[in-house]
Amino acid sequence: MTQRVIEINSPSFVCEQHLAATAGVAELFPVEQPLVLEIGCGTGHFIVDLARQQPHRNYLAIDIYNKGCYKTCAKIDAAGLANVRVLRMEARYLLNRFCAADSLAAVYVNCPDPWPKKRHRYRRLVNGDFLRLLLYYLHPHGEFFFATDFTDYAADVAEILPFHPGYKNRQPTSFSYQLPGYPSSKYMRRFLDQGQPIYYFHYQRVADFKIRVEELPEIVQGFRIRWGKAANA
Ligand SMILES: C[S@@+](CC[C@H](N)C(=O)[O-])C[C@H]1O[C@@H](n2cnc3c(N)ncnc32)[C@H](O)[C@@H]1O
Repeated sequence: MTQRVIEINSPSFVCEQHLAATAGVAELFPVEQPLVLEIGCGTGHFIVDLARQQPHRNYLAIDIYNKGCYKTCAKIDAAGLANVRVLRMEARYLLNRFCAADSLAAVYVNCPDPWPKKRHRYRRLVNGDFLRLLLYYLHPHGEFFFATDFTDYAADVAEILPFHPGYKNRQPTSFSYQLPGYPSSKYMRRFLDQGQPIYYFHYQRVADFKIRVEELPEIVQGFRIRWGKAANA
């Protein structure tokens, strides 16, 4: 069954054609401020709380899920937030096509799809290639936040991140079960209400660690990446 695509008519929503016609993502905001990206914003609970908490930043909330973008826009508009823009776009596609090197003050990934079956694990977003890709786009002091409810996903990331020369840990342990002040996403709230743990990772780019363009992982059109196809609604 194909799902009906909801048209999004919100001042917070940016379609790909509009973005392609601007000089870059920074141009989407009325005031120049440090730029923060949330990947997989779902229905927008987290980004609205974060933008209220830290108003002196600009936020890009992206998801490939049309209804999620629609609901996120509705929350942003209701909250009167002028510093959040929503894009229906795949993360690696956005980074590769529209973001400048060293430009992101922070990147947040909360409860990404866990792909629990072993044969689907290659589909997980946060892996070695993704962490390398992020380093290219993070500001030299840019931060990376990753929260997951999925033990096995946390274990996989805990085997990479603490040992990566490009990242320094902002917590005393590889991950924690609490991150004071960190807003909860819809999924996080759901799992916390069920008494399940959330694994929080908070890392920062090592300022002088640079990824050269030729070292970037190859981003191939394939699962969830649709080059050149505008996903506007
Ligand atoms: C399990 S939901 C979690 C939503 C939200 N972060 C939360 O914690 O409530 C994962 C979301 O990530 C989106 N997503 C998955 N892979 C993505 C990708 N590569 N780029 C952008 N969004 C993605 C999905 O469409 C989905 O809305």
